Amino acid sequence: MSEVTRVLKTFIGYLKRPDLYPELGRKIIKNTVNRGNAFKGKDKTNSWAAGRAVSQKEAVSKLFGLEIDAFRNNYQEVLATAAEKERGCPVKMGGPGALELIYYACEFTKAQHVVETGVAYGWSSLATLLSLVKRNGTLYSSDMPYLAQDGDQYVGYIVPENLKGGWKLFRFADKESLPRIFSENKVFDVLHYDSDKSYNGRMWAYDELYKHLREGGVFISDDIGDNSAYQDFCEKNNIETTVVEYEGKYIGVFIK
Ligand SMILES: C[S@@+](CC[C@H](N)C(=O)[O-])C[C@H]1O[C@@H](n2cnc3c(N)ncnc32)[C@H](O)[C@@H]1O
Repeated sequence: MSEVTRVLKTFIGYLKRPDLYPELGRKIIKNTVNRGNAFKGKDKTNSWAAGRAVSQKEAVSKLFGLEIDAFRNNYQEVLATAAEKERGCPVKMGGPGALELIYYACEFTKAQHVVETGVAYGWSSLATLLSLVKRNGTLYSSDMPYLAQDGDQYVGYIVPENLKGGWKLFRFADKESLPRIFSENKVFDVLHYDSDKSYNGRMWAYDELYKHLREGGVFISDDIGDNSAYQDFCEKNNIETTVVEYEGKYIGVFIK
């Protein structure tokens, strides 16, 4: 798909969804006057992250006192079925991230309530729900559809039916989804941020999410090397964070 076709398809997708008009306005500003925002402070943060990064295995062991190998062994079949579903999905989205980090954060906190932003195929949702289902917990997720690819129906595509009972998916931009989520549940055990990667988008969401994380809860943010929002947020709040290097990107994680 050419760039012009993609932009046009995205725009038409937005026009068909009046509930996404506020995000359309923000996108226009983001891609015009605020263009530099996506990479603000990127170099500073990449050297900061590189200097402290550890593996996912080390992070899970150091923070949660847990060992990660059981996840792949215990859920081998579920993960293989999900990967098969992903291969058959007509819309292409982002693949799995550091699933063990998410799963063991839920195990460590004995999570009952988790919030995540960014679902795509649903890999992080799957890892979360596999832990939550043991305690009848609930995952609250926020994701905008892939408008350029008519991807509305495929958000969360790999999540198996038997786990959907504990899942509430909010199909708006975070700025609209999160207030709705917080009106249903105020305090969370784990939060996972993996949606709007702009500096301003992160700063807004990190502040909102942090307020709703309980003491002892786990905060995880993906792709923290895109710009310096995560580093700046941690420094502003005197947070000692762990940085995980996973498949060439950095993930931030700390216990509140
Ligand atoms: C990297 S993917 C998420 C991957 C997912 N966490 C996983 O582990 O498979 C990012 C997602 O964020 C969503 N997204 C981007 N900007 C958003 C926004 N402002 N509000 C809500 N969702 C957004 C995209 O639609 C996309 O599905």
